[in-house]
Amino acid sequence: MAEPRASGQDGPVSDQGSLAVETRDLWFSFSGGGPVLRGVDLDAARGQVTVVLGASGSGKTTLLKLLKGLLAPQRGSIRVLGRTTSPGGRGIRLDAAVAYIPQNLGLVRNLTVLENTLTGALGRMGALPALLMAFPPEWIKEATGFLERLGIAHKLEEKVYNLSGGERQRVAIARALMQRPQLLLADEFVSQLDPVTTVSIMDSVRETVVTGLTVIMTTHELDVVARYADHVAVLRDGQKVLDLPAAEVNPRLLSQVIKV
Ligand SMILES: Nc1ncnc2c1ncn2[C@@H]1O[C@H](COP(=O)(O)OP(=O)(O)OP(=O)(O)O)[C@@H](O)[C@H]1O
Ligand SMILES: [Mg+2]
Repeated sequence: MAEPRASGQDGPVSDQGSLAVETRDLWFSFSGGGPVLRGVDLDAARGQVTVVLGASGSGKTTLLKLLKGLLAPQRGSIRVLGRTTSPGGRGIRLDAAVAYIPQNLGLVRNLTVLENTLTGALGRMGALPALLMAFPPEWIKEATGFLERLGIAHKLEEKVYNLSGGERQRVAIARALMQRPQLLLADEFVSQLDPVTTVSIMDSVRETVVTGLTVIMTTHELDVVARYADHVAVLRDGQKVLDLPAAEVNPRLLSQVIKV
């Protein structure tokens, strides 16, 4: 049976307030299954990096999909960039403002690095130029700039199917930034990168955060948490079991909470 999907929106658009995301008593089950999220309250401040941690199966991806509006909660409320959704299947559509990098990255394998990156800007175009993929030169420059910062500009014309996992991850990030989002939801961010590349990519993302981007990411890399997170939330079996400013957590506490 298909799981409930979100469509439409309930609340008025507003970008007031210091929270980019606010969920209250969020419950979600896939059809025929038990609850995957159980009463999750999550606040993510604007312009901060919030990291969601938890063991495999704890509900991290499901939470990000709810925030993107790809799934709708059975109970509770979600407020993203000032828009509210409530139970009953009506979710949030903020396609341009909210960029989502799925766990499998969602790239088009037989398009090039540059073409994949440019697809992030499709929401900014009219239907015909979008259909023809006729991108203005300044966007090509912008896309190339992101790819340079992410260290993959030397493969602009390479098809994505020829890239390594880490290279693909960089393209997915560049594509998300091309969307000029206010909120970036990144699932298993930097998971396929070596430590040096992770630092350079997270530094680029941090620069963007300084200019106002809010990031909610999941990762299993505790080093990334220590270095880049402003705020940490830990899920266990769909419940939030820890929620602290990053300055108050340490790797030992985190690994204990995640494993228990
Ligand atoms: N489409 C689906 N239909 C039914 N159950 C699902 C579906 N997707 C996920 N689940 C279940 O929901 C639970 C939470 O899954 P989710 O993908 O959110 O976990 P996760 O924390 O992201 O795990 P990981 O670290 O492995 O990515 C798991 O028990 C999973 O089996
Ligand atoms: Mg996941």
